[in-house]
Parts: sequence; structure tokens; C-alpha cells
Amino acid sequence: MIGQKTLVLSILATTLSALALNLPVASSPLVPAAQVIKPGGDMSKCLEVAGADYENGVPVELNDCNGAANQYWLLKAGETKIQANGTNYCLDAGSSPQSGVGLKIWQCYDNLAAQDWYFTDDHRIALNHQSQCVDLTNGNFTNGNQVQTWDCTTNNHNQYWNLQ
Ligand SMILES: *[C@@H]1O[C@H](CO)[C@@H](O)[C@H](O)[C@H]1NC(C)=O
Ligand SMILES: *[C@@H]1O[C@H](CO)[C@@H](O)[C@H](O)[C@H]1NC(C)=O
Repeated sequence: MIGQKTLVLSILATTLSALALNLPVASSPLVPAAQVIKPGGDMSKCLEVAGADYENGVPVELNDCNGAANQYWLLKAGETKIQANGTNYCLDAGSSPQSGVGLKIWQCYDNLAAQDWYFTDDHRIALNHQSQCVDLTNGNFTNGNQVQTWDCTTNNHNQYWNLQ
């Protein structure tokens, strides 16, 4: 009898640990959830692909957060592309990034400097290996304002972004 109980308990324990092992797989961190990107100064605003028009060169601009698909991006802390969710278009700084250049989407490519971003611990979205950051143009919160790159500057509120 004792032997049978031990066997049953052992099978139960094995089943439970198999279930426990399966649980993290269902919510794998390798598939990041889509997020919205909000400027620090106004949490009611979100970055979006203008007009949900997915074509090379379409501006990325500010709008009221409205839950629409064109306001969702795939990215994670650290080095990453910033991909318009559900599309093959990425946030792109252009071939000669500098202060004042408007941000747009472009077809995603691997290892492309213009699409190689780094989300820093102090909430900046910096172009990797370059001193340019995603910047709210003129600190202007009006809907339709296209964001730009600008020299990364500490404590610049136009360069503070929240992911949600
Ligand atoms: C993100 O894209 C995936 C895949 O296309 C889709 O299933 C999901 O609903 C999208 N998320 C949002 C918030 O739009
Ligand atoms: C703010 O952005 C809007 C939309 O792009 C634009 O029409 C307006 O002229 C801008 N205002 C300033 C002060 O830059």
C-alpha cells in the first residue's frame, strides 16, 4: 500500500511539475507584447503611423491615444528595432541622421543603422552608436506633430518617452 501511495504521489508530482513547466511557455518573454509610446509631458498622447498608411516614408507623429492599431509598436528595453505592430515597417531615422530630421517608417531591415534603437534606463529612445534621440519636435503636443531626431540631451523633456 505504501508503495502504491508513493507511486501515485510521484505521478502527481511529475504531472504538477510538468504543468508548472508549461506555464511560463504560454507567456514567453521572447514574444514581446505591442506597446504604445507616450511623451513624458502628456500621457494622453501616443506616437502613431500617420493615417495608418504603411508605406516607406510615412511620418511618425503624435495623436490622441485612441487604441488604434497604428499606435502599437513592438520593442523592448535595450537594443531593438521599433516595429509598427503587425507590419513589416520600422521606425527609421534616415540615411544621414541629424538634429531636425523627421522620423518616418520604412520597411524593416536587420542590421540597419537607421533602425537600430536603444531604449535607455532614463526613458530615451536613442539611435544606437549615434548621439541622436527620438525628440518631440518643438515640444509641441498638437496632434499631427511629426517627431524628429535631435542630439541626445540629459534632462530634455522632449526626449522622455513612456512605454505602456
Ligand atoms: C499586434 O499585432 C498582432 C499580430 O498581427 C495582433 O494579433 C495584435 O492584435 C496586435 N496588437 C494590437 C494591440 O493591435
Ligand atoms: C505644432 O504642431 C502642429 C501640427 O504639426 C502645427 O500645425 C503647429 O504649427 C505647431 N506649432 C508650433 C508652435 O510649432
